[in-house]
Amino acid sequence: MYLTRDEEEILAGEEGESCRKAMELVVALGKIYGAEDLIDIASAHLSGASYKTIGDGGLKYLEDMANGGARVSVPATLNPVGMDRERWKEMHILPAFAEKQLRIIELYKKMGVMATCSCTPYLGDNVPSLGEHVAWAESSALSFVNSYIGARTNREGGPGALASAIIGRTANYGLHIDENRRPTVIIEAEIDGSVFSYSMLGQAVGMAVGGGIPYFRGIDPTVDDAKTMSAAMAASGSVALYHVEGVTPEAGNYDLKGLETISIGKKELEGAYEKLNTADDVQLIALGCPHLSKKEMSDIAAFLKGKKKKNRDIEIWFCTSSKIREECAEEVRIMEEFGPVLADTCMVVAPIEGVFRRTGTNSAKAGNYLPTLCSQEVVCRDISKLMEVVL
Ligand code: F3S
Repeated sequence: MYLTRDEEEILAGEEGESCRKAMELVVALGKIYGAEDLIDIASAHLSGASYKTIGDGGLKYLEDMANGGARVSVPATLNPVGMDRERWKEMHILPAFAEKQLRIIELYKKMGVMATCSCTPYLGDNVPSLGEHVAWAESSALSFVNSYIGARTNREGGPGALASAIIGRTANYGLHIDENRRPTVIIEAEIDGSVFSYSMLGQAVGMAVGGGIPYFRGIDPTVDDAKTMSAAMAASGSVALYHVEGVTPEAGNYDLKGLETISIGKKELEGAYEKLNTADDVQLIALGCPHLSKKEMSDIAAFLKGKKKKNRDIEIWFCTSSKIREECAEEVRIMEEFGPVLADTCMVVAPIEGVFRRTGTNSAKAGNYLPTLCSQEVVCRDISKLMEVVL
């Protein structure tokens, strides 16, 4: 792999041990994936932020990097952590967990990372542009910026994205290259257009295509629809990029001749729904996977306004970013009559196992991960149906 003189020097440790380690990791990934060189990145988004997911090993790695002088050289945002920074007691979090979680956040801050702690940085804090090369982890977010915005990132892991953020470069392979962004399959979709139908569509398509690059016909997703669909496809399959005819910026760039066409309609959506629903009742209803947007906050508040929570045994969590929570004071007031509006965290990266066993969600992504990462049985429905049991 070709390295500039500058890059060779970093690899030789001339800019310190942390930069050397970061360069070593990026170069190693580049060699594995056959990159010819490195490219500059405009931003990074980092996963590996919850103490639940990274544990003491991850904490030690971050301590070594941060205390060894590692600093990011491009704007870098952080994924949700294991708890709301202020309201963790309302999430049944133990002090020992909270202490380590807060240390992790401080270590990222020490490295210059913006501790936004949201999986939707593209809604405000970190918005890439069309054609820009970035290094993003968080499968739902990277799929959204690749597809809906037309930025370019591979499906980075937490350490790889951090290493790229430190050296400001990533290996030039995969979805950074035009040819590899070509659709691999056409999806003729028939859905009712609700946000939940986009979640089920994403689930069904991920199950059908695995890691391909779908080209959609028959849908017209808004930002919120694309947000939920990106998350679903990245969880049920490993889709990191898709195109939507007439909607996404690169959809018209490729010749579709010879591609297989798959139809996704009522039968496939029912199959997706069946796969996700494993429980009949819930102890927790958790909304906001990916984190709730302003529009979703406003829709939920409008739906709840004037209603009363009748079943007090079921907890309700609304998950969003600090920024959106601050901007939606009136919506928060209405929603908090039903449950806490939590910032910086989510039902999957928080340690809910041991507290709850059955969780309701409107998100196919959460529906995939709650059983495997949180030992939950799941009820997956649209918001109004989920809420029927408490209203
Ligand atoms: Fe975000 Fe957590 Fe879902 S990180 S995409 S809310 S699993």
